[in-house]
Amino acid sequence: MKTILSLLAISFASSVFAANELPDRQTELPAVKKAMDTDYLQPRSLDQVPETEFGKMVKLGYSLFVDSQQMRGEFVGNDQNCVNCHMQAGQKANAAPLWAAYSAYPAYRKKNDKVNSYAERIQGCFTYSMNGVPPTYDSEEIKALSAYSYWMMMGGLMDRHGMKGQAVPEVSAKHLQAGAKGADFPFPDKITKAFPVEDRSSLKGRGYPKLAQPEQTPSIERGSDVYSAYCSTCHSADGQGIRGNDGRSYIPPLWGASAYNWGAGMHRINTAAYFIYENMPLGKSATLTKQQAWDVAAYVNSHERPQDPRFKGDLQENRDKYHNHQGYYGQETNGKLLGKDSYPSATVDGQ
Ligand code: HEC
Ligand code: HEC
Repeated sequence: MKTILSLLAISFASSVFAANELPDRQTELPAVKKAMDTDYLQPRSLDQVPETEFGKMVKLGYSLFVDSQQMRGEFVGNDQNCVNCHMQAGQKANAAPLWAAYSAYPAYRKKNDKVNSYAERIQGCFTYSMNGVPPTYDSEEIKALSAYSYWMMMGGLMDRHGMKGQAVPEVSAKHLQAGAKGADFPFPDKITKAFPVEDRSSLKGRGYPKLAQPEQTPSIERGSDVYSAYCSTCHSADGQGIRGNDGRSYIPPLWGASAYNWGAGMHRINTAAYFIYENMPLGKSATLTKQQAWDVAAYVNSHERPQDPRFKGDLQENRDKYHNHQGYYGQETNGKLLGKDSYPSATVDGQ
């Protein structure tokens, strides 16, 4: 208990990091094999959100998640909405659902001896996936997104553990921001017993399920054919997706100035392959072969995108420091050094 509390203390302190130094908040989740049953936690229907101040915060979180473009220019720097990668409003199992993420934080990371709170993990997706500048730890936006995640997790657990029909208890902002893994998180007694701390980072359906390494090394060339056959109708041949007459993006761009940046988890070939196999083409999960998923992930991620916000001017140095994984950043690909002609990132370019 004492260690957990001191870890929490570190996590709050770590939200204030040295100017100029971005925390690494895009570490890879421990990818796990897909559960072969469908016994996933089931969040409650949104019309059960109460008409209270707390309920309003949950609804605001939902709204920011599905229509993140309302934060464009302030916290969001590209055409993405959170829901583009965390599908069905963050509810879909195997598409990094928020209900499974929420109970996994605060997460201790050996690598830098730091604790990542839930709020900090969300801030990471703003910096990298949304190519923006995250709302502050204590902002309404972070509290609302945390409240929405908490509400889904807690409602699902209450229904599972014989508390159907009972309202989800309200918790303090401090708990909301931290996440539900702390031993002091206020769960109802029944749930504390049924859902011990050691089980909280492994709810079935968390993250994107791991694929085995492919038989053939992922090929950008083969991936290009997969892309033309299965993806380009929606994401366009030039990867820019589809924009409506109102100028808004309806199918997200996969590369270019308005896509996720070089620091985002999705730029890793393995993470994109896991996501794509499970969730794309839209509505046709798992119709590609696994090899095709790896190949098209390589193709998508072999294009220029906004700069990694941790970049300080030296591509090789940034690659060595942060890109020790499956990705093309800082590598010569099809005659181009990727990362060299990147598009602006909010942090690097101070926009
Ligand atoms: C371009 C795709 C993309 C977008 C857009 C995106 N994310 Fe993520 N998110 C990811 C990836 C990839 C991971 C890490 C998954 C991994 O490593 O397996 C992740 C992880 C997370 C996690 C932790 C999941 C866990 O189980 O630990 C949370 C919470 C989260 N994102 C919230 C958000 C929020 C809130 C937004 C919008 C502000 C957002 N994300 C936008 C791709 C995205
Ligand atoms: C029928 C249209 C359609 C097809 C076909 C399709 N996608 Fe998507 N894709 C979408 C939509 C829509 C989203 C956003 C999902 C959401 O918001 O629920 C998306 C999201 C994504 C994302 C999330 C990352 C981001 O930048 O937002 C990736 C990666 C992706 N698609 C890759 C692919 C690949 C690769 C293929 C081909 C194998 C493909 N898609 C086929 C419609 C499609």
